[in-house]
Amino acid sequence: MGEFVHIETKDHTSTVTITREKALNALNADVLKELHAAFTDLSHNPEVRSIIITGAGDKAFVAGADIAAMSKMSVSEAAAFAETGHQTMNAIANCPKPVIAAVNGFCLGGGMELALSCDFIYASDKAKMGLPEVGLGLYPGFGGTQRLSRVVGLAKTKELVFSARMISAQQAADWGIINKLCTPETLLEEAGKCAAEINSKGPVAVSLAKKVISNGADESLDVGLELEKGSFAQCFDTDDLKEGLAAFMEKRAAAFQGK
Ligand code: CAA
Repeated sequence: MGEFVHIETKDHTSTVTITREKALNALNADVLKELHAAFTDLSHNPEVRSIIITGAGDKAFVAGADIAAMSKMSVSEAAAFAETGHQTMNAIANCPKPVIAAVNGFCLGGGMELALSCDFIYASDKAKMGLPEVGLGLYPGFGGTQRLSRVVGLAKTKELVFSARMISAQQAADWGIINKLCTPETLLEEAGKCAAEINSKGPVAVSLAKKVISNGADESLDVGLELEKGSFAQCFDTDDLKEGLAAFMEKRAAAFQGK
């Protein structure tokens, strides 16, 4: 548990909350490093089957990279900051467990890039999203130029980045950025329900599925299909598969152990 990241684990779901409310949970290097360390721990914790990430307070998920910190950076410090940001976003994207972003308010710049590093996004219908960096004289530097276009395509990404415009949660849902819109009051409950649904399934299979879907996304169909074929048989080396098949035959719910 650190200064800027709070983790609560219950029923196999860890909720990671960024707790820098007075700066709308803006990401400075310390927050990024704490987040990275949290995801390294959660990745290795066998009790944890899914992760929800959210922001403290009712105003912001994350309002971006820390502008005050960036205002003092030299060119080489900015390069190191981008490196830290990318390492953290990659730790989330490559986490072997599903990660759901629960976007509870402003989700801007590095905040939107953080949400895009998660497997999918649930959001409050009051949330606002955007990549406003060019309005500050820089551009999205924690993966946004690449991850957003993989979700919405090049044209919408360019319009959003070049205009620095904020869009409503409804617009983001219409574009396929948000999987589910919730009221602010039910957001964490809805994300938790989805996590519980995932937790009840075979954890090794879910983890392998994440890897194959993510790794195949940037490949040709043929290469992606090879990736899928390559990992499929690994499931047959798990107790989970025996349990899942036995439970089906015995007409009962499976009790997976994650091994
Ligand atoms: N960094 C540092 N501090 C921030 C911040 C950020 N990204 N966003 C908000 N804050 C701080 C404000 O400075 C303010 O602090 P004080 O109370 O000490 O003055 C506090 O959070 C509350 O913010 P506001 O008073 O501005 O709240 P508001 O309701 O008037 O506006 C907002 C909300 C529209 C989100 C506005 O805060 C805003 O525009 N924030 C910046 C958004 C942005 O440009 N993000 C991109 C950052 S660059 C980036 O992310 C680069 C990258 O890709 C790596």
